[in-house]
Amino acid sequence: MKYTILLALVAMATAADAASLCKNEDTAVADLTEAAILETAPPVNVTLYYECQCGGCQQFITDVLSKAVDVLGEKGTYMDFNFVPYGNAQESYDKSKKRWVFTCQHGPGECWGNLVETCAIHYKPKFEDHYKFIHCFEENFSYPSSDWKPVLEKCGKLHNMPVEEIGSCVTSDIGNQLEHQMAERTVAHHVQWVPWVIINGVFYKDAADDLLTAVCKAYTGPKPKGCPQ
Ligand SMILES: *[C@@H]1O[C@H](CO)[C@@H](O)[C@H](O)[C@H]1NC(C)=O
Ligand SMILES: *[C@@H]1O[C@H](CO)[C@@H](O)[C@H](O)[C@H]1NC(C)=O
Repeated sequence: MKYTILLALVAMATAADAASLCKNEDTAVADLTEAAILETAPPVNVTLYYECQCGGCQQFITDVLSKAVDVLGEKGTYMDFNFVPYGNAQESYDKSKKRWVFTCQHGPGECWGNLVETCAIHYKPKFEDHYKFIHCFEENFSYPSSDWKPVLEKCGKLHNMPVEEIGSCVTSDIGNQLEHQMAERTVAHHVQWVPWVIINGVFYKDAADDLLTAVCKAYTGPKPKGCPQ
């Protein structure tokens, strides 16, 4: 009799332990799932093909992109943003000078500006480090200006860029090669007009007018505050 009661008590204790263990595990699993979603939802990959002096491109960067950055931030948590400044330019190779020769839709000023931005991206490859500079440059360097140096100076100082290095890159063989790479990326993605926005490898026409909505839709994690409902 005594023995039976003891057994029963042991059984009850074990059942209680198991129940409380089970409960703890449930909570732990729930926490883990939430953390896993937050950590593993990849940022939406956005690539902008553009040329620096086209009005629509300037408007996209200073207005449409800026609205998206206000909500999604510059850090790349939600959006991994890539600038490809080349657009409708053309290139040919000058064998004697061993350099690419670029011809831009809005003239020589645009070719200089594309190079400034390409070199800026080269020295500060993270979006969070070059975005404000490119925004400022796009706001302050419009067609038909080709006077890029004062704008590089002004925007570069304002936004913590290596102004001297960028300036020499623009006229050097390195800058020439880097701009050629931008040309190759543009041609490889069959860009038909600018601004041309690719999201996770797919062309999205509407993203040129409303990038925020497009990126919010594409993001697979919990939507950041400020995403349109
Ligand atoms: C251009 O540069 C100025 C600084 O002179 C900066 O405050 C601004 O953001 C940029 N845009 C315009 C339109 O001035
Ligand atoms: C983002 O997309 C561009 C263009 O589609 C691609 O070249 C690049 O490799 C992608 N980046 C990542 C991190 O997937």
